[in-house]
Amino acid sequence: MTYLSRRLFLGAATALAASPMLARSTTSASSAAAENPLVRQRADAQVFRHDGSYYMAASVPEYDRLIIRRSSTLAGLATADEAVVWRRPASGRMAGYIWAPELHLLDGRWHIYFAAGDGDDKFRIRTYVLRAAGSDPITSKWELLGKLETPWDTFTLDSTILEHRGVRYISWAQHEPGFGNNTNVFLAPLATPTTLAKAPARLTAPTLEWEIQGFKVNEGPAFLARNGRLFMTYSASATDARYCLGLLTAPDDADIMNPTVWTKSQQPVFVSSSATSVYGPGHNSFTVDEQGHDLLVYHGRDYEKIVGDPLFDPNRHTRIQRLYFRADGTPDFGIPVGNGPLPNRWSPLDRPEQFVRVTSERVTVGTGPVETTQFRQVPSRLDPNHISLVHIESPASKLVVGSDSTVTLAHDDGSNAFARRSSFVKQQGLADPKGVSFASGASPATYLRNISGALRLGSVSSAADRVSATFVAS
Ligand code: AHR
Repeated sequence: MTYLSRRLFLGAATALAASPMLARSTTSASSAAAENPLVRQRADAQVFRHDGSYYMAASVPEYDRLIIRRSSTLAGLATADEAVVWRRPASGRMAGYIWAPELHLLDGRWHIYFAAGDGDDKFRIRTYVLRAAGSDPITSKWELLGKLETPWDTFTLDSTILEHRGVRYISWAQHEPGFGNNTNVFLAPLATPTTLAKAPARLTAPTLEWEIQGFKVNEGPAFLARNGRLFMTYSASATDARYCLGLLTAPDDADIMNPTVWTKSQQPVFVSSSATSVYGPGHNSFTVDEQGHDLLVYHGRDYEKIVGDPLFDPNRHTRIQRLYFRADGTPDFGIPVGNGPLPNRWSPLDRPEQFVRVTSERVTVGTGPVETTQFRQVPSRLDPNHISLVHIESPASKLVVGSDSTVTLAHDDGSNAFARRSSFVKQQGLADPKGVSFASGASPATYLRNISGALRLGSVSSAADRVSATFVAS
């Protein structure tokens, strides 16, 4: 199976019918909290903060143009204007499929790295660089600097730029002749925006079972320096529900051009979830929310089965979620959190390293996989001013107080009794105004409390009681 079959599909290439993307209404930045999907039908999204604004570049289903969004808030990207900053020509070079743009500010000038096929072969994908004439990437005119020059004239895509320890690198995915797969991921220092300062290092090739499902692909590199290490995520396999994230890790002070300094996780770190109904999560980027918390940006569909070539299924939506780290400083990606408001984790005020978590319907306070600790707030059925807490892996279940005051996770049976016992009034923390306390919606003088590692409903009469009834969101 040659690498081109990755992109070839039987019958006439069915370029998506041009579906004019209506320019969204000009809105002020949305103040609503971000929800998933953040932006529908935008794949391979790069989201970053610059100069107080969020920028987003992404692939569009028509693969025919380069778009940029800008918003003063993360949530505002959902409804922000979408500027078309470049359209492919009607024929010739770069008139093929347009994929995975990234916007980078290099030496004070905005550049866009993107992959483009040609008019006579839409899959003759190579990487090109545009440079903005002006200082505003949304309104500026763009000029073509040229094609990214690499050692082989082959399928080249998914470029990203990283500045690491004073050196500017580029990383990309490319078909390596004679390697017998689709694409490997490479790294090299840049000499100019379109030329390499030295021969590339191959950082990863698809060899593990979960990397070669459908196609032998490693692509979509993204970098994050945290906790004394440099992490590189990448995407693997076919772009259907088997698409997933892998992870390489190197010491922050290592020679990152030396492939041996990179450790490859033997298992994927982020995969489809039938529990939260997100499939094919991948081609990620990293950013931070308005409070500076790390966020994972990625695309994923909310259904598993795809009709036809996944590359032409338009519903890879841009999604975001918190990125947490384990005690050893490594990232814990958890699972795709699913559609709706972003979930929170809740730590007892006096146990910041522990979390309210679900362990087979029981609700305890302790440590465990991220996904066991993530709860989405929804309006209570009892009173819209009250809330219920839904565990992300069990969307039809809620935290509910039993007759013995213990708290469990149970399926909402639609009864008034269940509504009363799963309704809470979220209020300022009893022991710390920066925290939160959850009073029972049915008996407001009682609160959710961490009592010896179990979550129970109880009255509060002492300072210690107030601490046990105060939680901090993370
Ligand atoms: O979305 C188009 C291409 O599909 C992207 O460049 C690649 O990351 C994905 O496989």
